Amino acid sequence: MAESPGPMGKLPPQRRGGSPTERIGELERLLKLCERERGLIANELHDGAVQELVAAHMFLQSALESLGQRSPARPLVEQALERVTAALSELRRVMAQTRLPALEGDGLADALQRLKDDPRFRTLTIHMDVRLRNRHFLPTVELAVYRIVQEAIQNVLKHSGTDEAFVRVTQEQDTLRIEIEDHGRGFQPGKVGKEHFGLVSMRQRAQLLGGTLRVLSRPGAGTRIVALIPVRDSLVQTGPG
Ligand SMILES: Nc1ncnc2c1ncn2[C@@H]1O[C@H](COP(=O)(O)OP(=O)(O)OP(=O)(O)O)[C@@H](O)[C@H]1O
Ligand SMILES: [Mg+2]
Repeated sequence: MAESPGPMGKLPPQRRGGSPTERIGELERLLKLCERERGLIANELHDGAVQELVAAHMFLQSALESLGQRSPARPLVEQALERVTAALSELRRVMAQTRLPALEGDGLADALQRLKDDPRFRTLTIHMDVRLRNRHFLPTVELAVYRIVQEAIQNVLKHSGTDEAFVRVTQEQDTLRIEIEDHGRGFQPGKVGKEHFGLVSMRQRAQLLGGTLRVLSRPGAGTRIVALIPVRDSLVQTGPG
């Protein structure tokens, strides 16, 4: 995959000074930039690759219609059509993830609960235990928590070899604690190649908010992701609800 600098590559050196409000403002700005770039990528995919594939699909469909039932080319064209259809739905899936998920509305806990019903995870049993004192947090905090949980569940689905994920999100004092666990095949976190982005971006999201993310795993012993994100009172927008 081509390397693009992206906003993460242009982060200014971290400023230690400044009031908490200023630093939060700075973080908000940076995270918004990241989200905007994700949106731009989704648009690019839509106007570029997706349109090309739609055109290819149309040509293949016409080719198929002009081929006789017994033509030896028929199964090949049918396969090509299937592949193009699969690529289109894969791209649409990527774009759907790239766009902001449905975080508006009922609050973080509800958004997390809704992840359980996401058709992408239908083959998984997700045990979701969410205990939050507040309904809403700053949008950047909500987005980070949502994305971390989403990617960790996705990893359970893709890599763990089990069909159960245990998610726990709790609010302790001024910290959100996010845990995603599975009892699957596990892996060696120190040996993950640079071409993988999921764990790296989960950690970046936590760190940008002043938090931490640990990956506890070893082969045969399952996997546990633990993220801690500070939510001092000043970060919380609304009262308990
Ligand atoms: N729950 C898990 N169980 C077993 N292995 C895992 C689990 N989560 C991650 N891994 C291992 O760590 C690797 C890196 O995960 P990461 O999410 O960074 O990348 P990825 O899922 O391979 O690709 P993507 O960049 O699309 O997320 C995976 O390829 C897999 O080998
Ligand atoms: Mg992943």
